[in-house]
Amino acid sequence: MAPKNSRFTDPVEEHRALLATESRIAIAGHPLHAMLVAFPIALTMSLLGADLLYWWTADAFWTRVAGWAAFGAFLMGVIAGITGTVELLVVRGIRNRSASWTHFVLAVMLLSLIGANWAFRIGQPEEAVLPLGLCLSAVAAGLTAITGWHGGKLVFDYQIGTKMPEDPS
Ligand code: HEM
Repeated sequence: MAPKNSRFTDPVEEHRALLATESRIAIAGHPLHAMLVAFPIALTMSLLGADLLYWWTADAFWTRVAGWAAFGAFLMGVIAGITGTVELLVVRGIRNRSASWTHFVLAVMLLSLIGANWAFRIGQPEEAVLPLGLCLSAVAAGLTAITGWHGGKLVFDYQIGTKMPEDPS
């Protein structure tokens, strides 16, 4: 809240529409996006784990695990991304916040990276891992952590996707 007599105004107070943040892509009020993001997050971390285990053991089994983890992370990430994007476009209080668009940009970069990592492995599961596949997986894991943390920030700092006590929509 802006202090009294301040020459600055609080955009949230000024534009009541910013308080309309309740999720529309939800089951009984619980956002689908929040339920789905667990899959790409867990699978991207598993992908990095499988690459590290292949590096350590040289067992080709881990390259097959990595290939499926990359495919699953990309597929579920795109599905989660679609639910998030519809939410972003449909809900006024979400699309009016710059932080929501920052999350969108981070997520699109992440999904592109995971997709490239998966495509790069097709037909050469073992050759692809060292060094480029492993590097892509490490960067994707770091970007997943940043994107996931930022998604949490949207919910906990800006109450995005939550039901506000006084929702003007
Ligand atoms: C591609 C476009 C994406 C858009 C437009 C988007 C949008 C959103 C929005 C609007 C929220 C607020 C909660 C809600 O309304 O559901 C959110 C939360 C979140 N997002 Fe995304 N998202 C995208 C992709 C991703 C991806 C790929 C990840 C995986 C790392 C991710 C991780 C999260 C997390 C962890 C939360 C917090 C969930 C919670 O604690 O309830 N998002 N996102």
